[in-house]
Amino acid sequence: MTDTTMNDEAVGSDRGTQLRNQVVEGLMAEGTIVSAVVEAAMRKVPRELFVPGVSLDEVYHRYNGVVTKRDEDGNSLSSVSAPQVQAHMLEQAEITVGMRVLEIGSGGYNAALLAELVGPAGQVTTVDIDEDIADRASRLLAEAGYSQVNVVLADADGGVPEYAPYDRILVTAGAWDIPPAWVRQLAEGGRLLVPLQVRGLSRTIAFEHAEGCLVSRSSRLFGFVPMRGAGVHQDRLLVLRGGEVTVRVDDEFPVDSGVLEGVLDTPRVEVWSGATIGRFEPWATAHLWLATALPGFCRVVVDRTLDTGVISPPGRQSATSAVVAGGSFAYVTTRRTAEEMTLEWGVHAFGPEASKLAEQVAEHLRVWGRDHCGGGGPQFRIYPAGTPDDQLSQGRVIDKKHSRVTISWPQAATATAGQDVLQHTTE
Ligand SMILES: C[S@@+](CC[C@H](N)C(=O)[O-])C[C@H]1O[C@@H](n2cnc3c(N)ncnc32)[C@H](O)[C@@H]1O
Repeated sequence: MTDTTMNDEAVGSDRGTQLRNQVVEGLMAEGTIVSAVVEAAMRKVPRELFVPGVSLDEVYHRYNGVVTKRDEDGNSLSSVSAPQVQAHMLEQAEITVGMRVLEIGSGGYNAALLAELVGPAGQVTTVDIDEDIADRASRLLAEAGYSQVNVVLADADGGVPEYAPYDRILVTAGAWDIPPAWVRQLAEGGRLLVPLQVRGLSRTIAFEHAEGCLVSRSSRLFGFVPMRGAGVHQDRLLVLRGGEVTVRVDDEFPVDSGVLEGVLDTPRVEVWSGATIGRFEPWATAHLWLATALPGFCRVVVDRTLDTGVISPPGRQSATSAVVAGGSFAYVTTRRTAEEMTLEWGVHAFGPEASKLAEQVAEHLRVWGRDHCGGGGPQFRIYPAGTPDDQLSQGRVIDKKHSRVTISWPQAATATAGQDVLQHTTE
């Protein structure tokens, strides 16, 4: 990132204030900002102070973050997240005056918003693993008048014990697991917000302590740059057809690339489920439902530059949900229906058991359409690793290094409120 003075003269200018108010009003109109306190904080803090050198139009794009550091391959290592993402997380966190808040992953701007929300009686700590980012956040926060924020350089896998306990912990990097320190450092009655990867799908989940574990209260669909340090996680990648198709496996079910060798060259079986979805309805619960229901759940990604059409994900997407079972492989797609703006879920399958597998997946899609489409989505619970099975709640169990995650599906009418929203990414 180049720290030029491109926007300096605009700071506090009419145009900066005007764009800031426009973003806030847009976020209110779409229902992202719902509280007066988040509205007031976002109207007050000049976002441009935290991304010097970036044009005001980029700074105030409602759905785009501003990347502040990339690795040598151009992947984003850090960003100031999109206003929509930050507003959603702040609303999900329900921060009140006097709270002690830990932000994991620093950009400066969000910490300033947190400082506004907790007021002088509260305390904000922000931690980053990257010295450049921590230094930058510290300098920009001081320049913007928020030097009361504690900026810490550390791997947040261990939390930040010196300022604990926290009423709120907001994790703003994609986590694969929940380290014990976060649970320990969360105050009684506190709330942990974490973008958690579960079977390759990521969602920002608000957890609270209840019934001897952490229970999800709401979840939202947002992606963040991945966690680095001790919590880093690599999916297993099975590269097929010279790189045209990559199967991403998040957890430990036994599959290796040899199993799928040549399977995509076998005839494709197509099964249409009859389950439909409106084009603008959120799809994410369908994928999570499959992730819960199918033991061999994974994701398949197509390289569009090598695309021969062997895999056709829904619409123009380049990735979709898939499943490996024995030597067979299936993935989920959609097709138009006679009804305007409505799509039907279908399954394409390959391999010796293609028909059986396609029918199995289609049946799960029908169940989703009947019982969960439009519902509140699943409930997640986090137990420490080693918790015996008979002490876990009902549902699919996913074992991680530090925790055992259970996913259950309350009936639509009783599910937790405020769940799936359409996805925008942070950068
Ligand atoms: C999306 S950015 C943070 C955005 C910021 N909270 C905001 O809203 O503007 C994610 C940050 O997480 C940091 N990060 C990644 N792994 C970390 C770790 N283990 N401990 C602390 N920070 C980490 C990255 O260096 C990066 O700066």
